[in-house]
Amino acid sequence: MKKDLINKAKIVLDGNFQEKGYSIPCKGLYPFQWKWDSGFIAIGFAHYDMDKAKQEVETLLKAQWQNGFIPHIVFHVESDTYFPGPDYHRSDLSPLSNKEYPSTGMTQPPVIGFTLEKIYNIASDKDDALKFVKKNIDKVYFNHQYFYENRDPQNEGLVFIYHNWESGTDNSPLWDDIWKTMNPPEYVFKRRDTDLVDPEQRPSKREYDHYLHIIEIAKEHNYSDEKIAELSPFLVQDPLFNTMLIKSNSSLIALYKLIGGNEDKIKQLEKWQEKSIKSFNSKLYDTELGAYIHYDLRNEKPIRFVSSSSFSPLYAGIPSKEQAKTLVNTMMSKFGDENMYLCASFDPTHERFNPKKYWRGPVWINLNWILYYGLKEYGFNEIAKRVKNDSIELIEKAGFYEYFDARKQIYKTENGGYGGNNFSWSAALLLDLINN
Ligand code: DGY
Repeated sequence: MKKDLINKAKIVLDGNFQEKGYSIPCKGLYPFQWKWDSGFIAIGFAHYDMDKAKQEVETLLKAQWQNGFIPHIVFHVESDTYFPGPDYHRSDLSPLSNKEYPSTGMTQPPVIGFTLEKIYNIASDKDDALKFVKKNIDKVYFNHQYFYENRDPQNEGLVFIYHNWESGTDNSPLWDDIWKTMNPPEYVFKRRDTDLVDPEQRPSKREYDHYLHIIEIAKEHNYSDEKIAELSPFLVQDPLFNTMLIKSNSSLIALYKLIGGNEDKIKQLEKWQEKSIKSFNSKLYDTELGAYIHYDLRNEKPIRFVSSSSFSPLYAGIPSKEQAKTLVNTMMSKFGDENMYLCASFDPTHERFNPKKYWRGPVWINLNWILYYGLKEYGFNEIAKRVKNDSIELIEKAGFYEYFDARKQIYKTENGGYGGNNFSWSAALLLDLINN
């Protein structure tokens, strides 16, 4: 059974790998290279095809900008199945963009640092893996430097995101109150995603107006971070995004130590680390909710909801043991009902929870993967096991979908797998979970 699933996962991954050396998340819906997808996908490939794992990372890094920025989508090819494409995003407007690789002017969670470490740990040929790390690590360091120097205007050690697509959790209810502060025009455009997937499972037209409006403002200022910090109606310190950065900082430190030398970089990374973790715990931990929350930097107020992102700091060793216990209690009391798979993406006890709609409730395998390792790190082995087994069971029952209904009873009568099918990171991270 497991062998069969492993083979199927490899078929999905190999089928989505492109000639130019990167993977699409899935056919039709996402026809380019996505940044955080690529990290997770490379981890999956590392288990059986190291060459593809390396290419995945190196192709992404080739698209890095002159200031260290790595974009969220790299448009390697033309496609008429996706909106908004390269003609809309216009990365060429930025004087610092990479003119060889058209891309968006926004980023996604910084996963490449820990991806490098995972690849190294999985590799059986350590010399070869270290050579690969050596060749690429400075680009990732430069990317972290970009974040701390351009995305942290108050010098807190917490970086901001300026678009919900930068969070990765695109249409989470977390953003609903920010949308209420905006009144964008009714743009006229032709979406493609809703031709490919049931609109019930995707963001609404009005939500897209907001998404586009933020990009319009950024484009007006040629994607200047300074102007974005000053003017973007969306400016958020996201615990998931910052967790990925902090985890990747630790990975870079560990890898630089393996390589030897690089004392200045290690020292700088440790400085960032100390400051980031301190601010993270003082600013993003909500004692009353017993969870980490987001902070709306534009409107200067906390966004007080519990989502799967709230527990992700376990993955980077951010909470104290005491905090971790509280976090896990919160997770189990709100998300851990026996009739639900772990872990819904948004608080299932909240009225904004929607079990079918993208990031408003469904289970995502990448978040489960982050939680699995985080829970294990803190010794919550039974719950970690449940997260792992639930992930495997969902894929066994429904297939390699993009996201999954958390309600167990649904699977008696319908397929609770939603969004894109043959989705790369679901396959990649399944391989890693099974091999762990
Ligand atoms: C989409 O098009 O929905 C993507 O998630 C944006 O990154």
